Amino acid sequence: MEIEIHLAKPEDRKAPNFDKLVFGKIFTPHMFVMKYEEGKGWHSPKIIPFSNIELHPAAIVLHYSQTIFEGMKAYFGVDGKIRLFRPFDHINRLNRSADRMCIPQVDPNFAFEAIKTLVLLDKDWIPKQKGSALYIRPFIFATENTLGVKVSHEYLFMIILSPVGPYYAEGFNPVKIYVTEEYVRACPGGTGEVKTGGNYAASLKAQAVAQQKGYTQVLWLDGKERKYVEEVGSMNIFFYFSDELATPALSGSILPGITRDSVLKLASHLGIPAKERKISIDEVISAIQEGRLKECFGTGTAAVISPVGEICYKDKPYVIGQGQTGELTKKFFDYITGIQYGEREDEFNWTV
Ligand code: COI
Repeated sequence: MEIEIHLAKPEDRKAPNFDKLVFGKIFTPHMFVMKYEEGKGWHSPKIIPFSNIELHPAAIVLHYSQTIFEGMKAYFGVDGKIRLFRPFDHINRLNRSADRMCIPQVDPNFAFEAIKTLVLLDKDWIPKQKGSALYIRPFIFATENTLGVKVSHEYLFMIILSPVGPYYAEGFNPVKIYVTEEYVRACPGGTGEVKTGGNYAASLKAQAVAQQKGYTQVLWLDGKERKYVEEVGSMNIFFYFSDELATPALSGSILPGITRDSVLKLASHLGIPAKERKISIDEVISAIQEGRLKECFGTGTAAVISPVGEICYKDKPYVIGQGQTGELTKKFFDYITGIQYGEREDEFNWTV
């Protein structure tokens, strides 16, 4: 399939000053759009000037949330090269999300071409300061017009690009997190392991409660027993106990994060014993009380690595590592961002 390209006006293509970037607030001049219709399949891929889109008020996505997305980044390297980080892992996850949400999959090579063409067209919008990047948001949503609850026969696949700075206002500083026992993010058999909008909508209430109490993020427990740690905010979570690095095993309700996987591979490369296993909140709290929890951090594409300095459980605060960013947390952050910005050799072949 050939991508038809319609360029934006030259005055709209000029990149602004990227001094004060907030996450996901500004967008590049172009976007990718491709239609799906039952019987025709995916067709008519186009790159067009960034604009609002028109949807029928009964479009399935607006009512029943049949939608999926990905988040990846293009980095401007110290050597002037533009790098994508593990793009095919993101595209393959998009297709796994598609499968779970009864959305037709996309050809991975074609999706990669679409991303690459769009990023190169808007390459002047990749911010150059370290810590910032061009966030790439591919998403697919159901556009058939009906109020019947059914699998849509029509979709749009779109890609938009947003120059971004650090995800958290705190930057690379420890965040305080709040354990919610009232709400759950996902449960066995649900959609927690894929990237669909509803998971994020369902997380907002607990997030609002945590913020009212002065915490940045929610620590999610499992949906069945509310005993085991699953994720933090919209990120995966790691604990560095005295003798091992551990992250919750993918249980079916945890998103298989690309940064999570990168940290696990890096740990094994660095000879740090790392385990994917069940981790109960009681184990975490006793480890903090006994001084055995050295460090804790979240992982995700948006923030890469986000140190956790305090956990509030049953309304009692527990400080981890004097609330400071730990050495191992920093090492992972420096290693991964080093690869992303071309500062160090990519021995894992993660970048394209
Ligand atoms: C990520 O950490 O990359 C996320 O999933 C957050 C994103 C939804 C903004």
